[in-house]
Amino acid sequence: MAVRDILRRHVKMALAPLIYRYPPIALGSAVLFLWLDALYKTKHLPGAAIEIGIAAGGTCIISNRFLREIQSKREYVGVDTFGGFSEEAFAEDVKLGNDWKNFSRFSANSIDLVRKILRMHGAEDVKLLQGDISKIDRTRLPQSISACLLDVDLAVPISDGLKLIWPLLETGGIVVVDDCFVDNQGDWQALKGFRKFCGEMALEERFLRRRTSGKGRFPWGQHCICISASGTNPRINGGIAESNGAASSVGPGALR
Ligand SMILES: C[S@@+](CC[C@H](N)C(=O)[O-])C[C@H]1O[C@@H](n2cnc3c(N)ncnc32)[C@H](O)[C@@H]1O
Repeated sequence: MAVRDILRRHVKMALAPLIYRYPPIALGSAVLFLWLDALYKTKHLPGAAIEIGIAAGGTCIISNRFLREIQSKREYVGVDTFGGFSEEAFAEDVKLGNDWKNFSRFSANSIDLVRKILRMHGAEDVKLLQGDISKIDRTRLPQSISACLLDVDLAVPISDGLKLIWPLLETGGIVVVDDCFVDNQGDWQALKGFRKFCGEMALEERFLRRRTSGKGRFPWGQHCICISASGTNPRINGGIAESNGAASSVGPGALR
């Protein structure tokens, strides 16, 4: 870790009560809605809810609270390197169109800092797992998953994460993948990882609505994809909404 990142991490730790007095959610409001909706729609399933790529844990705090509010007893698991991106995976993303300037975006972090933030917000029961999703031992993950938020930004860990999660997903389970922009030169290449996974698994990509024009940097719903699995005949569904479209009910039922 670079000296600058170590210093930033210490400052964050010391000033945590001030910096993180509100849950530090790094998810756009549309995707946060879709993720909470996925948790709600899978409420009847027993498997764990898992967020892969949690940064400072803001979405874990809100989601864990939401599970209690809907009286779901599911375990909430957060997976992260707690040190940002792997250089190897990032180099692949740069080849696909990302820019090295984004590399250290999440580097100044640690599992202790995230534990502290979770404690500050009453979410100490979130289970944290440290590891690279491309290399993690499968047995460390929950063996049954009802809902997964895959938010690791880059093509390689998105594709690897999907491969790992897919066989563990319960019938009716949902995976929400963040950062699936269509026109994202110089930025995250998550969509390419999603498409690679679909190609390798011979799963049809189905889109709720294709974006035809973009207004602004993060138009509503543009950057989210949902997948649902169904027993022996897995189905894969994608949802990319138009910038002015209403993708409010992206989920297994709506996308079928
Ligand atoms: C956009 S942030 C996650 C934001 C978080 N989901 C939220 O809503 O607040 C991306 C996170 O993915 C993590 N990450 C990137 N590559 C990873 C990998 N291969 N395995 C595990 N975590 C990874 C980074 O460390 C970073 O914390």
